[in-house]
Amino acid sequence: MSRTIVITGGTSGIGLALARHYAALGEQVVAVGSSEEGGRRLRAEVPRARFVRCDLSSLRETRDLVERLSADHPVIDALVLAAFRYNPRRVTTAEGFEHTFALYVLNRRLMAEGLRGPLEKAPSPVIVNLCGAGRGGRINWDDLQLENGYRAVAATMQGARASVLLGAAYGSERVKYVLYNPVFVATGLHEPFRQPLRGVVRAASALFGQPVARAVPPITALIDRPPAEPVSVWRKGKRIEPAVDRDEAQRFASTVLAMSAL
Ligand SMILES: NC(=O)c1ccc[n+]([C@@H]2O[C@H](COP(=O)([O-])OP(=O)(O)OC[C@H]3O[C@@H](n4cnc5c(N)ncnc54)[C@H](OP(=O)(O)O)[C@@H]3O)[C@@H](O)[C@H]2O)c1
Repeated sequence: MSRTIVITGGTSGIGLALARHYAALGEQVVAVGSSEEGGRRLRAEVPRARFVRCDLSSLRETRDLVERLSADHPVIDALVLAAFRYNPRRVTTAEGFEHTFALYVLNRRLMAEGLRGPLEKAPSPVIVNLCGAGRGGRINWDDLQLENGYRAVAATMQGARASVLLGAAYGSERVKYVLYNPVFVATGLHEPFRQPLRGVVRAASALFGQPVARAVPPITALIDRPPAEPVSVWRKGKRIEPAVDRDEAQRFASTVLAMSAL
């Protein structure tokens, strides 16, 4: 029987490459993205995959998506969280959240919690959260929405740290939670920037970034054979052990839960 693999951000970069890989194996792939352009790209490159359009920075749209996916796919084998956008300037969502926090933190928690039921019905379920785990980053407890002095790097690093804390607090014996940092992969990293920085990032990415095709095999290995531990953190295929304060993880998970209860 084929597996069901749900990939947020499955229309570009690493997510698209994973969609292509699993569709070629005959698995049922559901790729989520916010733009019709991404949908067209997926349909052209991976016609066997199902495209679902959803703005994952919206709590309301994410809840609707979780409901639809749970109804359409009572068993989900793998959930890959790869939707991300780098915001050089502070952007707020229609629901009033800082965009990076909404997409990188609130959405990932809602997807993981919302699809817990279908995941727990799979024989060897796994969540793979593609993020900047292990690069440091801190939770700005006094200003989670970075209202005072937004910096894109701080927002991104906070999201990476948030992923580690939410992974640590996930708490499922059946569903293995894998935090995976692909480090520097040549995807569309230059796209959010204006010239001349855009050209510099594009050149650096071409010179130093890992090709997407090389970044994918260690990720599929973890999806196909999830680690035994409930939570594990990986950096470019190698296991790492970032320090996690259990109290901070629980406190953060509760805070995010309260914020998501819009
Ligand atoms: N590339 C790297 O070097 C690197 C390094 C460390 C961590 N990572 C992590 O790896 C993951 C994949 O990175 P990537 O570079 O492959 O990404 P990417 O090529 O930039 O693709 C991002 C994906 O997210 C989707 N997306 C963005 N905003 C969305 C929204 N509001 N709602 C729904 N979908 C949305 C995009 O589709 P639409 O544009 O259609 O919305 C696209 O499919 C990310 O989580 C990233 O944090 C990457």
